[in-house]
Amino acid sequence: MKIANILSLCMAGIILMMSSGAMATSDPVKGEKLAKKCKACHTLDEGGKNRLGPNLYGILDSPAGKVEGYKYSDAMAASDIVWDAATFTDFITKPRKVVKGTKMSFGGFKKAQQRADLLAYFKTLRHESAPASVPVGNVSNGMIVAAKRCTVCHTFDRGGKVTFGPNLYDMVGKPSAAIEGYNYSDALANANLMWTDVNIDGFLADPEGFLKGTKARFPGLKSAQDRADVLAYMKTLK
Ligand code: HEC
Ligand code: HEC
Repeated sequence: MKIANILSLCMAGIILMMSSGAMATSDPVKGEKLAKKCKACHTLDEGGKNRLGPNLYGILDSPAGKVEGYKYSDAMAASDIVWDAATFTDFITKPRKVVKGTKMSFGGFKKAQQRADLLAYFKTLRHESAPASVPVGNVSNGMIVAAKRCTVCHTFDRGGKVTFGPNLYDMVGKPSAAIEGYNYSDALANANLMWTDVNIDGFLADPEGFLKGTKARFPGLKSAQDRADVLAYMKTLK
């Protein structure tokens, strides 16, 4: 990736941080009240049943159309959406605009404040080891940390060898357990995760705590800054 691209990514990160700062008034408690509307069709608790719509626990940072045992519309099943803050917010503004042909018949929230409150509440519906957001990292330090802490088990270059762990080129934003020729643990093979920022951060902080049964025998990176730096480095690998 060119330096200019990296710089513009950093700028985008700073602008994102500033705008999320401006939304600091979003209130998960108000969001929980608004979520009563969702409960007409969805359960929101961990392991809750699918009703007219799928269970939504942990839906943020997950791929669309993947809740077990739920029969989605073809439109939702075939969409390549990941439910991050932006796609989730767009969806609850106007579901049919985001997924044309979705069978979710819900008018949407017209007020930005309501959507921000709802998003804040949905951020709390997740496993504890996954953080709400990840700070912007430093690419060159990330490269150093990766060389010290990851390359014993992973290659990072394009087409790099599968060693003890899978090759990690272009992994950010991609589905888990997708590297050909790597024999994953059942835990990771069945996890159905997207390697979003928060999932990578949660996994790197404590692999076993994040994904019970993973064979990544790696004690984790305790420093949040190191994790953010490795993530920033991984984002350049594409
Ligand atoms: C009238 C019933 C109904 C209401 C009310 C409703 N939903 Fe849904 N929702 C559905 C259905 C049905 C689906 C499956 C859509 C499909 O397959 O096209 C769905 C799907 C979703 C998905 C995608 C899930 C996935 O696994 O990809 C999200 C996210 C979602 N709803 C969020 C919400 C939120 C947030 C609210 C409240 C603001 C809400 N829904 C209110 C019926 C509803
Ligand atoms: C001791 C070896 C070891 C170290 C050190 C290690 N990992 Fe791993 N990692 C693995 C193994 C093994 C897997 C496959 C896990 C499974 O199948 O459960 C894995 C899986 C992963 C995955 C998921 C890949 C996929 O295809 O879904 C990511 C992302 C990852 N590691 C990142 C890292 C990063 C970044 C570091 C350094 C900070 C690191 N790992 C350090 C062994 C290691």
